[in-house]
Amino acid sequence: MIPSTKKKEKKSFSVDAPLHVTGKTQYLDDLPELSGTLFAKVYAAKVAHGTINKIDTTKAEHLPGVVRIISYRDIPGQNQVGGIIADEPLLAEKEVDFIGMPILIIIAETDVIAHHACQLIEVDITTKKIIVDPVEAYEAGHFLSDPIHCKKGDTTTAFSKCKYIVEGEAESGGQEHVYLETQGAYAIPNGDRSIKIFSSTQGPTAVQRTVAKVLGCTMNQIEVDVNRIGGGFGGKEDQASPWAAMVALATHLLGRPVKYILERGEDLQMTGKRHPYKSSYKIGLDADYNILAYEAQYYQNGGAAADLSPAVLQRTVFHSTNSYFVPNVNVSAYSCRTNLPPNTAFRGFGGPQGMFVIEAAIHKAARIIGIPAPVIQEKNLLNEGSEFLYGQKTEDCEARNCWQQAKVNYEIEKRQAAITAYNQEHPNCKKGLALMPVCFGISFTNTMMNNARALVHVYSDGSVGISTGAIEMRQGVSSKMIQVAAVSFGLSTLAIKLETTNTTRVANTSPSAASATADLNGKALLDACQQILSRLKMMLAKEWDINDADTIIFENGLASSFDGSKKMDWKKVILLAFQQRINLSAKGHYATPRIHIDRTTLQGHPFAYHVYGTAILTCTVDCIRGNYEFDAGNIVHDFGTSLNPAVDLGQIEGGMVQGIGWMTLEELIYNKKGELKSGNLANYKIPDIYSVPKKVDVQYLETEGSDLAILKSKAVGEPPLMYGIGAYFSLYNAVMAFNPATEMAYSAPMTAEKVLMGLYGITEEVS
Ligand code: MOS
Repeated sequence: MIPSTKKKEKKSFSVDAPLHVTGKTQYLDDLPELSGTLFAKVYAAKVAHGTINKIDTTKAEHLPGVVRIISYRDIPGQNQVGGIIADEPLLAEKEVDFIGMPILIIIAETDVIAHHACQLIEVDITTKKIIVDPVEAYEAGHFLSDPIHCKKGDTTTAFSKCKYIVEGEAESGGQEHVYLETQGAYAIPNGDRSIKIFSSTQGPTAVQRTVAKVLGCTMNQIEVDVNRIGGGFGGKEDQASPWAAMVALATHLLGRPVKYILERGEDLQMTGKRHPYKSSYKIGLDADYNILAYEAQYYQNGGAAADLSPAVLQRTVFHSTNSYFVPNVNVSAYSCRTNLPPNTAFRGFGGPQGMFVIEAAIHKAARIIGIPAPVIQEKNLLNEGSEFLYGQKTEDCEARNCWQQAKVNYEIEKRQAAITAYNQEHPNCKKGLALMPVCFGISFTNTMMNNARALVHVYSDGSVGISTGAIEMRQGVSSKMIQVAAVSFGLSTLAIKLETTNTTRVANTSPSAASATADLNGKALLDACQQILSRLKMMLAKEWDINDADTIIFENGLASSFDGSKKMDWKKVILLAFQQRINLSAKGHYATPRIHIDRTTLQGHPFAYHVYGTAILTCTVDCIRGNYEFDAGNIVHDFGTSLNPAVDLGQIEGGMVQGIGWMTLEELIYNKKGELKSGNLANYKIPDIYSVPKKVDVQYLETEGSDLAILKSKAVGEPPLMYGIGAYFSLYNAVMAFNPATEMAYSAPMTAEKVLMGLYGITEEVS
């Protein structure tokens, strides 16, 4: 064993767990409804592309209980919800661009009436050409944004020096977020000409800004409040805004509270998902298996509007070489406009799609050369000071440490030998093993977004109330925020109350996304706590006649002088400060230092730091049926110094399982008409307990942790998702153990059907 895995001393703590296990947790739909509340429902397009000829709402309007049917003509401001690019109407005007595109909003006394009214509406549409494939869109010149070209070194010269050059294609499918709580919002009139919105969003400011735009009012007229949300995974970073805009619009028009919680089927149908990608690559290696050159073209299936696609595409480019150092890289990426719901952020934000391609390239190269893929992987891992495609160099690079610790502690050679022996003894069952190193950059790639604020009140009885811009979406950020305040003041977590996330207390928030929520909001919170602390220290220094106020310690509910001769209970300190008219509130601010990026050349220092890890995935394939299960998922992960090991462990385990789902089970199917054929949870299979590797083990790579991480506890939200990519290659290896000549395409997800065809050399029919 490498003895670097120390026991963690920091205490795990969850403010929400007692509520969750007793079923008391309050989500959006648990808010008591005000009397007079109305219910909204969307009438959405039933064809993927066409021109609206005629809309007949007569029958629906006459249905008792229908209050109003709203069209784009009723919008007082802009009919526009596009975040990065203004290309997405809230309600269709003349044209529909995807099935599920909102055309009308029905407002009724009950949701049952709204549902019924929806079925009485008749819309006549002339269908136009429908494109659902990104390469077809590319060839037709349909783009959502400018292409991205990014290069380093000179691939042409480098390829001429390569002994091995391998070209190929790789494809990864979309992924439905399946947040447990569907999208929704509740708007209420809030005094004189202002509207308050409760929203299930990762981005309260995005909701506020979008609603203000649609209503044609200023942002100070709109208050957005979020207690917590039941999952987001990126799906509520931008795509929570339209529903909020709809209910706010209805409240504006009718002066009554209006609520809309999407049914699961509506949510699956109308919202965007992880971007499917089609990609091609060319990889070149020298005789020692050093990767000298890598080229790739990414065709992102963006759907019908830009949404966050350009930013997602950029992260694909940034993570195109994953955890490897490649001296010569040349990649092009295209955001292709298709007639699907606009695809959006999803845990990893384009990074996983980019990483899958280079892993496929390495896997195929290893097959052709006739060596195991880990030989190439290990050889090319990042070193200290390695330069990324985007010009940033690694600092405190843990790529090799994670890999090495995984290899040694999880006895990779012994297990590989055991798998070989097993495979020899079992003609109809084969095991496979794959290693998946991950390097993920932490920060919003849009530098401007890397900032946050927090508000802290210490009440005169010594209790503390904190507000930040962070959204709790079951990733445990609430617990971390409470810990930050508790550690700062030397108090128990019980003394700290976290308020809802509200745009009137903390303004101009960045969405809770990019794995950066705890870092950004935690640092802002730390700033606020320190302002109050320094005022208290000044007061006590005077009181106790101490020269250096900074030597005063706050710990275990007490303030004490450095030598311990003076002590005062926290409550007494606060009472004294209150009597002396000292400000017991503070607003903190944080903007990540050092980061910058040139938006045209994509060169700079976009990330505060990187998170590293290595996963080992093993599986057993039933070679008669094509079914499989995962035997183990072993991970060495670079947590820095984890602030909350239990919360972080949950993120690692959950992330890996979600990644396994994306890579293996979750097959998102749209037909050529743009109809979602996997439109319910019976035919869209997400991971359940049987999909989880039978043994999951996570080791904490003990590192100092970056100063830019909150209390040196590194970001954990997105990086573990990409461990799931190892599941794909473990299956591929098991199939190869049965059929060494298999010509399975590098096409994820690796469903049982694809495994079966791969085992018996059946080429997949293109539908
Ligand atoms: Mo997250 S995919 O950055 O909302």
